[in-house]
Amino acid sequence: MSTDIAHINLFDPEIQEDWYPSYTRLQEQAPICFLPNHNMYIATKYEDIRYIVRHPEIFSNQQGVLTRDPLLADPEARAIYAEHGFDRMFPLSADPPIHKHYRKLIEHAFSRNGIRKYEPFIKQAVVALIDEWIDRPEIDFIEEFCAPLPRLVIATVLGFPVEDIPQLVVWSAAWVRVWEGELSKEDQLDVARKGVEFQNYIIEKVREKRVNPQDDLISELAQASLNGERPLQDDEIISIIDHLFIGGNETTTFAIASGMWLLVKNPEQMAKVRADRSLLKNMVEEVLRLESPTQGMPKIVMEDVELSGISLPKGAVVHVRYGAANRDPEKFACPHSMDVARENAGSHMAFSQSIHSCPGATLSRVEMLIAFEQLLNRLDDIEFTPGKNDFSHAPGMVLRALNKLHISYKVIG
Ligand code: HEM
Repeated sequence: MSTDIAHINLFDPEIQEDWYPSYTRLQEQAPICFLPNHNMYIATKYEDIRYIVRHPEIFSNQQGVLTRDPLLADPEARAIYAEHGFDRMFPLSADPPIHKHYRKLIEHAFSRNGIRKYEPFIKQAVVALIDEWIDRPEIDFIEEFCAPLPRLVIATVLGFPVEDIPQLVVWSAAWVRVWEGELSKEDQLDVARKGVEFQNYIIEKVREKRVNPQDDLISELAQASLNGERPLQDDEIISIIDHLFIGGNETTTFAIASGMWLLVKNPEQMAKVRADRSLLKNMVEEVLRLESPTQGMPKIVMEDVELSGISLPKGAVVHVRYGAANRDPEKFACPHSMDVARENAGSHMAFSQSIHSCPGATLSRVEMLIAFEQLLNRLDDIEFTPGKNDFSHAPGMVLRALNKLHISYKVIG
């Protein structure tokens, strides 16, 4: 490995602001690269990552580190969960064989058929959100559109009352902070306190719905048994629900925001979609490919293995960079350009692949599709509002999130 490469520190917020030149250099010079300061390997090539996610028996999500609250190091913060809350786990991301039993509990709700019944509701929600601000010449697009939509949708699918959304947002924002990088003790305590409040709120809702079930996923989970053998325990059900709420909320927000950012930066691509709406679906894939909201996830090596000529010892951590795979020139021609007609745009790994592929992929795609369909129907001459954008992103190894996006437009018709 060249010294040059050894200096690429993907943990550096400046690099995170624009990952892509570093991904390219890593792909060219060290596709499986060891970062000694973080004691971790980084994988950036599409085929390597595809191999990794298709071999969960070798590259695990689990091993304690990743399932039982790896995220808060401070003992006092961890004690808050132990004393006032529940074990923080990730059953939906467990390793096989138990994984499929947890996934089975939720898959039907997020399948193509399961989502179809929410489409009229999603369209209505999109139209209502646009109606709220369309008479103004400019908006804070993330706060006034990208964030409220997925929240409302996932809260409805799960069965949280709409009036609780403002509080759910506070808990959700605290939950994802652990992915930002190292948190101060103070911040860890805050995350733990809010996490415990969220857990206790969820279990209260589960208990209510056990007595008074509604047509929603929490009611179903409240009655569910694991593999037909035993009822779900409180910590399992809480962890499934909070994972779905966060998953359903944050990443889709980032995807819609990035979509608008890319369209305004590439006006000829926006014009193509305006002229031919059959391209919308592919445009959504191209957005997910170019600005993958989940840039990467760590996996643990369960046995000594060799990948692209590099030996990975048992116990090592490999950070798979979905965002790099999606710009691998061996997979995608001119990988850094937006091409709404790109034939293989949908082969991206923004939702990963294989057993851990995102169960919310269909829901997110439907939300993005309806959102952009309506936005393009109603807004013309969309621009970035001068002086209000710096196009910066939140720091962190996992998520790709624009901090803000202010747009101006003219109303069509
Ligand atoms: C654009 C939006 C989204 C993106 C880019 C995204 C991305 C991902 C990725 C890359 C993974 C695999 C992580 C890994 O193990 O390496 C994943 C897993 C997961 N996602 Fe999403 N996600 C999105 C939306 C959603 C939605 C809407 C939900 C909830 C309904 C959700 C819930 C989950 C859950 C529960 C998992 C764990 C699955 C498992 O390990 O079997 N995500 N997501």
